[in-house]
Amino acid sequence: MQNETLTITDNRTGKTYTLPLYKGAVRAIDLRQIKTGPEDFGLLSYDPAFLNTAACQSAITYLDGERGILRYRGYPIEQLAEKCSFLEVAYLLLNGELPDPAELDAWSGEVTRHTMIHENLKKFMEGFHYNAHPMAILMTTVAALSTLYPEARNIHDPEVRRLQIIRLLGKMPTLAAYSYRHSLGLPYVYPDNDFGYTRNFLNMLWKRTEPKYSANPVLARALEVLFILHADHEQNCSTNAMRAVGSSFADPYATTAAAIAALSGPLHGGANEEVLRMLDEIGSKDRVPAYIAQIKAGHGKLMGFGHRVYKNYDPRARIIKRVADEVFEVTGRNPKLDIALELERIALEDDFFVKRKLYPNVDFYSGIIYQAVGFTPDMFTVLFAIPRTVGWLAQWQEMLQDPEQKIARPRQLYTGQPVRERVPETAATLA
Ligand code: CMC
Repeated sequence: MQNETLTITDNRTGKTYTLPLYKGAVRAIDLRQIKTGPEDFGLLSYDPAFLNTAACQSAITYLDGERGILRYRGYPIEQLAEKCSFLEVAYLLLNGELPDPAELDAWSGEVTRHTMIHENLKKFMEGFHYNAHPMAILMTTVAALSTLYPEARNIHDPEVRRLQIIRLLGKMPTLAAYSYRHSLGLPYVYPDNDFGYTRNFLNMLWKRTEPKYSANPVLARALEVLFILHADHEQNCSTNAMRAVGSSFADPYATTAAAIAALSGPLHGGANEEVLRMLDEIGSKDRVPAYIAQIKAGHGKLMGFGHRVYKNYDPRARIIKRVADEVFEVTGRNPKLDIALELERIALEDDFFVKRKLYPNVDFYSGIIYQAVGFTPDMFTVLFAIPRTVGWLAQWQEMLQDPEQKIARPRQLYTGQPVRERVPETAATLA
């Protein structure tokens, strides 16, 4: 492996170059030596949307899209979803190993101690318009956390970094729950440290006048599993935003807010909300074939289908389908499931989707579960952002510790005007 090389002949000059390969990849900077003459800048690689460019090395998540494999720190996602709590998985992603019982206890205690948010931030949230989108509230309030913790900008101090990571993990469910209560005009519920991570979140969401909200254990576990499945997904759009913004050494709150912004788009995390809208638009199972025909004719996309990396069934979607069955035992079946199953059945047989290797992704079934549990569609992406914060922070930390990383600054192929003179002077400049 070590001595693998690539030989390139430049047909413009007839010169041959031998470039070393690094972990099966060519280093783009090695292309720079390929020049037509001393004035030539050197060869660039052109890769809009990073279709074939590794922008970092990472030891966090392994994803084989052709075979439908997803692992966090080497552990198959199926095992983590079945056997772990979300906070165990968060510890694993951030530290590389699963915690032992004492470490888990200490870790859960630390995260729990940081669930409260400053009253100033609560007042800040009260200023949002009644129909503000919860994802927009979350993005803004996470950015506002940097006004409360100015020391967070010392990103090179490992202890400061660690504290901000714990703060963000602790406060995300609180901010998410407050954004939800705000949109319903309900008073905010303070965190309750008697509960674990997801139960505390459910308490802050649903508590009314009772002293403590008692979450159904099946629904609480379903949410925990969904959190585990969403915790990281290597170099997706929002993680790339986290790394790119973080590479300028911005503080972790500003950086996480940028990642939330990226996640909110309908091609990324916002797709779960769009899936529900699509199922509403289709309305009934018998209208599925007509809807598919419309997509094939080039009118829109089947939301919750397709993925840049998975060219096989998304393993997370497979687990979510199982979780859906457990949730529906408690909540009753969401009638939208029948429409979704019919969409999947037809799409998986249809040549248009088969040829393009379009399979259901994580967002296809998650929204149906969230709705059955009682969430409105505008909360779905917020439910994605809470656990993904762990992945963003693990990737941010890894990026800061990687000696090869620098400020993210891609090149471009300039396609504008060549140099030109601003003559003759116009009447306006003469006046
Ligand atoms: N419905 C219909 N056609 C599709 C779809 C879809 N959902 N996705 C891709 N295609 C077609 C696309 O039009 C193209 O066709 P052609 O070769 O004829 O031009 C072909 O499949 C390849 O697609 P692409 O756009 O080159 O693929 P991409 O890797 O750039 O896009 C994607 C990936 C996820 C943005 C895209 O599949 C999509 O827009 N899906 C719908 C939105 C969605 O579900 N997003 C959630 C992604 S998973 C979770 C997450 O990341 O948040």
